[in-house]
Amino acid sequence: MHRDFRNVGIIGTGSYLPEQEMTNFDLEKIVDTSDEWIRTRTGIESRRIADENTATSDLAYKAAEKAMEAAGVTADQIDLIIVGTLTPDHIIPSTACIVQEKLGAKNAAAFDLEAACSGFVYGLTIAQQFITTGMYEHVLVIGAETMSKILDFEDRKTCVLFGDGAGAVVLGPVGENRGIMSMDLGADGSGGPALMVPAGGTRMPATAQSVLDRLHYLTMDGSEVFKFAVRTMPMTSQRAIEKAGLTVDDIDFLVPHQANTRIIKSALKRLKFPMEKVYINLERVGNMSAASIPVALDEAVRAGKIKENDNVVLVGFGAGLTWGSCVINW
Ligand code: ACO
Repeated sequence: MHRDFRNVGIIGTGSYLPEQEMTNFDLEKIVDTSDEWIRTRTGIESRRIADENTATSDLAYKAAEKAMEAAGVTADQIDLIIVGTLTPDHIIPSTACIVQEKLGAKNAAAFDLEAACSGFVYGLTIAQQFITTGMYEHVLVIGAETMSKILDFEDRKTCVLFGDGAGAVVLGPVGENRGIMSMDLGADGSGGPALMVPAGGTRMPATAQSVLDRLHYLTMDGSEVFKFAVRTMPMTSQRAIEKAGLTVDDIDFLVPHQANTRIIKSALKRLKFPMEKVYINLERVGNMSAASIPVALDEAVRAGKIKENDNVVLVGFGAGLTWGSCVINW
């Protein structure tokens, strides 16, 4: 085992989206909404929806395979699998264990992490600790969601916002002055009721009545979450940038959580960060919770938008309430 702290970076990315597309026009046929309302209030035009036979682990597995291929790492070289998700296949076993089995990653420990849309950034932070200390060499961090399975398609305030998908990265040791330079994580449990699934846990176990009352679906106070996000994204980004010993001007690229174009624009205006250096894909995929940042990151990397030595900020916020950001020298 290494005794010195090592630099840790992302050495491969991958993502996977289910094939079936659901446009705003498709939603017009299901709930009382319009393409115009959804586009102007959120920026979303379409999203992907998993079919009835597909669960979160299926998407996670496909994204993980691509990340491992990009990293040049085989399944038996993975020491730990962390899956950030709020839509696990089951309450038990963890989705991470199901992915471990599908990948044949027989040397890997595995667990799920629930920090909603901040789950991927939380996962990176945890993975970094194991590698920097020399405990592990390669950790797979996955953000994966089948949000469509917990959406109430009778509630226009929520069902138009989300989509399904998965993104993954492999973390490993990297050279001096490279990789993850800083992190900032936070939580405010007092905001929990703003975004929740009321039933199905131990507070309100599933009953026939809870199903009839539609209590197993996501509920949200949209304007509370909106205000929280606009306040928190610049705050946590600024903290991570300062911890890295940098200023906003030193940042080359930013990948935000993809919830709403208006949220991203307002938050980045506060941060005084130019939109030209921001990756946005939510018009095609909607909000995929923990999968949003890793899918956007993978697309940006594969499109050549993130180059070697770029200082990149990843920033997320979500249910809990939670937030997280990090600065990576790519
Ligand atoms: N179609 C048409 N009308 C709608 C729809 C819809 N899909 N949804 C709401 N409306 C109506 C409302 O009923 C309301 O009508 P009323 O004034 O007659 O009552 C009107 O539109 C305005 O509603 P608001 O909620 O005030 O709309 P707002 O401009 O705030 O936008 C939105 C709503 C898009 C949800 C916004 O608040 C938002 O993006 N919030 C953040 C949500 C978010 O990011 N959530 C995910 C967090 S990540 C995670 O952890 C999962």
